[in-house]
This record gives sequence, C-alpha cells and structure tokens, in this order.
Amino acid sequence: QTETEVELIGKNEMLTIYKPREKFSHKGTYGHALLIGGSHGKMGAMILSARGTMASGAGLVTTFIPKCGYIPMQSVVPEAMVLTDADDEKLTSITFDIEPTAVGMGMGMGLDQKTQHAFQKFLKSNEVPLVIDADGINLLAKHKDDFKLIKPQTVLTPHPKELERLLGSWKDDFDKLKKAKAFSKKYKCILVVKDAHTITVFEDKLYINSTGNPGLATGGTGDVLTGIITGLIAQGYEPLTASLFAVYLHGKSADIAVEDYGYQSLTASHVIDYLGQAYLDLF
Ligand code: APR
Ligand code: MG
Repeated sequence: QTETEVELIGKNEMLTIYKPREKFSHKGTYGHALLIGGSHGKMGAMILSARGTMASGAGLVTTFIPKCGYIPMQSVVPEAMVLTDADDEKLTSITFDIEPTAVGMGMGMGLDQKTQHAFQKFLKSNEVPLVIDADGINLLAKHKDDFKLIKPQTVLTPHPKELERLLGSWKDDFDKLKKAKAFSKKYKCILVVKDAHTITVFEDKLYINSTGNPGLATGGTGDVLTGIITGLIAQGYEPLTASLFAVYLHGKSADIAVEDYGYQSLTASHVIDYLGQAYLDLF
C-alpha cells in the first residue's frame, strides 16, 4: 500500500489552475458541453445543470433530454441548444450529431430499463471526457458489471447515498476513503465524494475542499456542481483539475450568496447566479 497524499484546496491552489479569458477568443475557444439526462418530473435537474455549465464559462452548451423537457429548457435556458430523445418522458436512445468537448450525464435521468440500456450503449462508444452524476451513478451501481465501462479519467460525483451504492457500506470515514481510493485506482476514475467537506479522490491522492456551507444542503446544488465540472472540462481543464476548481467555485459561490440570502433561503439558482462573484473573488 502506497502512502496517501492529502492536500487542502484553497484560493492559492485555484490561482495556479485558473486560465484567464483571452481577448482574441470566441465561443469555439471555450468548448462545447453536452449534458444528458432528465425525465418526467425531474427536468429541473437538467435546467440547473445547464445554467451551471453556462455560468462556468463554456462556449456552447447542448442538452439531450426527453421530449417533455423541450419547451421548459428552451424557455428557461435560451443560451443552451436542445436535442431530444424520441420518447416523451425518459431517455431511450442517446445519439447526436454534435462533437462535444465534454459530457455530463445522469442528472434527473431516472432508472427506467430503456434508459439503462441507452446509458450502457453510450458508455461503450463514448470517447469524450465524461462526468457521471446522480442516476448515472445509481444505474452503474445497480449493474456492477457496468463498472468496467468506466473509462480512465471519468469523473463520478456521488453524494453519500450514491457513494454507498457504489462502494457498499463503510465502518468509518477512514474506511470510506480507503474504499474510495481503491475504486479510483481500479477504474482510474476521479471520485468527487460530496459532503460538507467534499473530498476529491484520485488514486492515492485526497483533495479536501475548503469552501461551502450548510446552505448548500438543498435540492439541485449537486446538479449545478456537475454542470460546472462539465463546463470546465469543456473549456480545456483536465478532469481532475476541473473537479477541484468546480468544487471550490461552487462552495465559494454559496459562501458569498449566503451573505445575501442566509443559510435557509439559499437555493441552487443562487449558486449559479453568484458563480461570477466566486470567479471575481480569486483576484
Ligand atoms: N455543507 C456544505 N456543502 C454541502 C452540505 C453542507 N452541510 N450539504 C450538501 N452540500 C453540498 C454537497 O457537497 C454537494 O456539492 O451540496 C451538494 C449536494 O449535492 P447532492 O447531494 O447531489 O444534491 P442534489 O443533486 O442537489 O439533490 C437532488 O437528490 O438523490 C438525489 O442525486 C439525486 O440529483 C438528485 C438529488
Ligand atoms: Mg445529486
């Protein structure tokens, strides 16, 4: 067993990561993020994700969602393009003719068997850097054979329950991180272990985030985080770097927003709206 390296991630680390916006650039410079997910009654997860991706600085954002999400998505996120599945309520076949530079998937996707098949097929053929969240993780955990479809450098963003489905239960926090490291090593993936102090795990390295507050304990904030990670990868950040930067910015945004809204009234939308303040706070 190799030694675990632990790093606390704060503003100084972010300043070495941050890539400034170039004057002579255009939307093509900042990549094309594709978000895949949504199902009847859970389209909000995709809307929040798409807004998070836009606010992270991605050049273009496309969502791939069931048909019932078309009008809400186009109305609420006019900046994003929308591709739809043939099915009204869930994803059944994931095909598209765009060339994304990053894909984020699983938000509000549901666990329908047809969705599961489409998801597996997508994982087999996909070669674009990928972030898997929420029901994407839940589908993987339901069919442990599918773990082998996780390509190196894939980012997984489980909350505690999703992590338990993925790894099984743990005795204590040390045991949890030991299991997370083993999983990351085996599949060469990046595990963003979300919690009050989110810990990003990559092989033997642990990165502890220093931002965020209990105002984030509200529906949709996780979907926003996935949107930000995907947006940063689309812009050219490496998956691990993107994960660390996104977790930092997401928490910082909440820390700034909470000054205006308080812990109780902070919502996922505020985290998106204050993301610019989090970027500005870097300097
Ligand atoms: N302090 C700091 N940060 C916190 C706290 C806290 N007390 N509680 C939660 N957070 C942060 C987490 O670190 C994470 O970034 O808020 C985010 C919550 O993410 P999720 O748990 O995934 O929640 P979310 O996705 O918004 O909720 C809707 O419920 O079961 C799910 O995953 C399913 O996406 C669906 C979701
Ligand atoms: Mg979630």
